[in-house]
Amino acid sequence: MANNLTKQIDTLRQRSNSQLLRHLKQLSAPKLLEEAIHYSILGGGKRVRPILTYLVTNILGASINLADKPAVAIELIHNYSLIHDDLPAMDDDDMRRGELSCHKKFNEPIAILAGDAIQAFAFEVLAKANDLSYSTRIALISELASGIGGNGMVGGQVLDLSYEKKDVELEKIAYMHSLKTGSLIRSSIRMGGLIAGADPSTLSLLSDFGNTLGLIFQIRDDILDVTGDKAQIGKPKGSDKKKGKATYVTILGEKEATRRLHEQYTIARKLTAELGPDGAVLGELSFFIATRKH
Ligand code: IPE
Ligand code: IPE
Ligand code: MG
Ligand code: MG
Ligand code: MG
Repeated sequence: MANNLTKQIDTLRQRSNSQLLRHLKQLSAPKLLEEAIHYSILGGGKRVRPILTYLVTNILGASINLADKPAVAIELIHNYSLIHDDLPAMDDDDMRRGELSCHKKFNEPIAILAGDAIQAFAFEVLAKANDLSYSTRIALISELASGIGGNGMVGGQVLDLSYEKKDVELEKIAYMHSLKTGSLIRSSIRMGGLIAGADPSTLSLLSDFGNTLGLIFQIRDDILDVTGDKAQIGKPKGSDKKKGKATYVTILGEKEATRRLHEQYTIARKLTAELGPDGAVLGELSFFIATRKH
């Protein structure tokens, strides 16, 4: 990856972290809930989704200041989804980002309620984003809500659970991935477009890119569950096999899963090239996501 992109990503990650901290300071809740929320959100994370929103906003010519609050909202939603994903009723994972998962550090009711409160806070942040027009705020709220609901992330999580210990065709797994992971990634990208007032054809291109990048992201996650370094990924290895999850790797094997990932990466490069020279940075970010080690 080009050095200047690494720098740009680091800067945007720091920006995302400081914006999250700034907003979390404004959240007041009973002490234990507040502790669980801070613990889960501030303990690391690549911040890929807010970085995507910042980059798209910038590429389309708007000030990235306008993306600060939407970026916070998106990362809040992602963190709520991880807390719930780790619960015993779901993936039953004890570790996240190298630390105890929220329900292990605190307890199950607090983890469930921390997720609920974080989700509500995300929409509060968007609704109160007074540097954006009312119509932009409504468009962003609508985008995020549809990305994470029954026909988005939560729907995908339901499919994920229902496919456990089943022999599932690849198309169904691809669809599940597009919902459980692709939807939020696509919304993060499209929200950059909405902030910048992109026209419908650009938004449609961003949707296509989001779908492809979402699949790349989750196939890589499936591969890392088998090949990743435990200390680096910060979550248990082999969790998918243990739970009998249907993933690209459990169904196709690592080699074929990697081939499919490269196939998607080629598509991602083509789509980002259509965004013009400034889109190249998204192509490079796709490479980073396709080859990430954690
Ligand atoms: C993990 O997401 C969950 C998936 C959707 C695969 P990330 O890999 O973005 O997790 P963090 O935020 O960097 O820890
Ligand atoms: C998580 O997918 C998707 C979410 C919506 C959180 P995984 O269950 O594969 O994510 P990890 O491996 O636990 O991070
Ligand atoms: Mg899961
Ligand atoms: Mg999981
Ligand atoms: Mg996983």
